[in-house]
Parts: sequence; structure tokens; C-alpha cells
Amino acid sequence: MNQDVFQEAFNRISARRLKAKAENEQRNQEIDSKIPEIAEINYQLAQTASRILMGEDIEILKRQNLQAQRYCAQLLENHGYPADYLDMHYTCPKCQDTGYYGNDYCTCLKQMISSVNIENMNRNSRLKLCEFSQFSLEYYRNIILKETDSNNIEHEIDCYPVMERILQYCKQYAANFSLHSPSLLFYGRSGVGKTHLSLSIVSEVLKSGHEVIYDSICDLLNRIENEHFNQKFSGTDTLTAILNAELLVLDDLGTEFQTNYTLSVIYNIINTRLNHKLPTIITANMGNKALAETYDPRIVSRLFAVYKPLKFVGKDIRRMKMQ
Ligand SMILES: Nc1ncnc2c1ncn2[C@@H]1O[C@H](COP(=O)(O)OP(=O)(O)O)[C@@H](O)[C@H]1O
Ligand SMILES: [Mg+2]
Ligand SMILES: [Zn+2]
Repeated sequence: MNQDVFQEAFNRISARRLKAKAENEQRNQEIDSKIPEIAEINYQLAQTASRILMGEDIEILKRQNLQAQRYCAQLLENHGYPADYLDMHYTCPKCQDTGYYGNDYCTCLKQMISSVNIENMNRNSRLKLCEFSQFSLEYYRNIILKETDSNNIEHEIDCYPVMERILQYCKQYAANFSLHSPSLLFYGRSGVGKTHLSLSIVSEVLKSGHEVIYDSICDLLNRIENEHFNQKFSGTDTLTAILNAELLVLDDLGTEFQTNYTLSVIYNIINTRLNHKLPTIITANMGNKALAETYDPRIVSRLFAVYKPLKFVGKDIRRMKMQ
């Protein structure tokens, strides 16, 4: 494991412990001044250790202490405080915010290590987060595209209502995101807002406290390959993080340099996450035909049947903005 990542995670857990302690002391001071009787009892309780040393009966002291504690809880409630007001309130009661449980790392520390890992990965991502508020439907207004379907019949597509529905869907998806959310496939020509909307979803889902990994497929594959073939690499395990993240956004499927190795990694990611029912959003600058020519039919059929495919339409907004 990467030492820096571990240290950062451990520091954050330690900070929780210090905070719990400081808050507990504050509550104690407050009660000391408001309910002097409790202050007196606490003073007596603090003498227990020395009374044991003086030879007093431990069993009797134990019983007295228990009674005193119950009496304190009663006093607190009589004064309108919760009975556990003076207890320590740890974020993780299991390990009392030490990060260790038995001889092992506590789940809270493991969780924190994975969060720090993911934060680092996302910080290195070339993609920058977007917001729904910066997404304008005006770019799709009065844009009518002609398309021929698989039966060679020509259709006209009014882009505005199509994209209005997609925007609405994405906002709902982000607001209601859970581990049961479906996986999405954003496809269509380049520059029509696929990356923008997927990263707007990421912004919202991150705000609700979920673990999200987002990056272009090229950069992720590079990183996985480096770690795979270079034992001395930093020690972070990108593939494991990708397979387990609560939401994964793979941007620009189809732009990667394809080898047997990259293809097998992509299949592994898509299959494993589907098996674990973890939501994934994939964007691709190509249609179903091109995807079918590039990838194994089993994968393409999953992308179109198990993922929810959303076809983005419009003109290249990058170019419209430049003009
Ligand atoms: N509806 C929109 N409103 C404002 N800016 C947009 C909109 N759609 C795309 N953009 C901007 O246009 C550029 C290209 O969009 P992008 O989402 O990267 O397209 P795609 O991923 O479909 O190729 C980006 O800078 C993006 O922020
Ligand atoms: Mg894109
Ligand atoms: Zn813990």
C-alpha cells in the first residue's frame, strides 16, 4: 500500500478522535458549570484509581461507581440533556476512531484509504468537473438533423426536445443516485455534451458523499497498464478502485489504443461492475454500428440492453462556441 495514502487516511481518522475528545471536554465544562452536583460526582469517580491503591474493595467501588453514573445520567435528563451527553461520541464507535480493531485495520480506516486513493486519482484526471447550470439547451434550438435508420428510411430529428429530455433524465439520475441506479451509455457525435453531462452528474453525486471515479478510458488504461507491468509503481491499485467505486465514469470509449490487453481490461471492468450491480456511465463518440465493429458483440449487446443508452444529438458545440 502507498505510504502517503495510508498516512493521510490515518491522519484523518486521528483528527476525528481529537475532535471527539475536544467536543467531549467542552460538554464536560458546560455541565460542570450548570450542574455542580455532577462535577462533584465526576471528581469522586476520578479518585477511584487511587482508592483502589489505598486498598479499598474493588467490587464495592465498582458498584458505587455504576450507581453514581446512573445517578448522573438521571441528573442530566432532569436538566433536559440526553443521558449520554457526557459520553464520548466517536464517528466510529467500533474502533473509537483509532483506526484499529483487534489486530487489523478497522473498516473505517480501510474506507478512508480507499477514499484518499480515489481523491488522488480524480485530482490527476485531465477531466474537469462540470455543472448542470452551465449546460444550455439553446445550443440545440432549431437544429434539425437528417438521419437514415437501419431500414434506410430518412428521418428528421429535432434536437431540442431530445436533449431537453436527456438533460431532465440526467438531473433526476444525479439527484436520486444510489447503488441501484442503472448504468448509462451516452453516445453520439463529438462535441454534443456527453462529457459535460456525465461530469455534471459526477459533481452532484460527489456532493452527496458517494465514491466516484471519472477519467478518460485512455488515461485509466495507461495507469492500469503501468501498475500491472511495473512492480515498483506507487502501489495504488487503480483497477481494484475502478471495479469497486460506487460510480464509475469511463469517458471516450473507442479512443483507446486497442490491444488484447486493453480489450480484456475493458471487458473485465464492464462485466465485473455489471455482476456486482454497480452503476457505470460510459461515453462514446460513435454510434451502435461503429461500437459493434470495435468490440465483442457480447459487450455491445450488454451496453445497449443492460445499460440505458442515451443518444445525444446536435451540432458540435465546441465549434459553435469558437465561432
Ligand atoms: N449544452 C451545452 N451547454 C454549454 N456548453 C456545452 C454544452 N454541451 C457541450 N458544451 C461544451 O462544449 C464542449 C464539448 O462538449 P463535450 O461535453 O466535451 O462533448 P462530447 O463529450 O459529446 O464530445 C465542452 O467544452 C462543453 O463544456
Ligand atoms: Mg467527450
Ligand atoms: Zn473504526
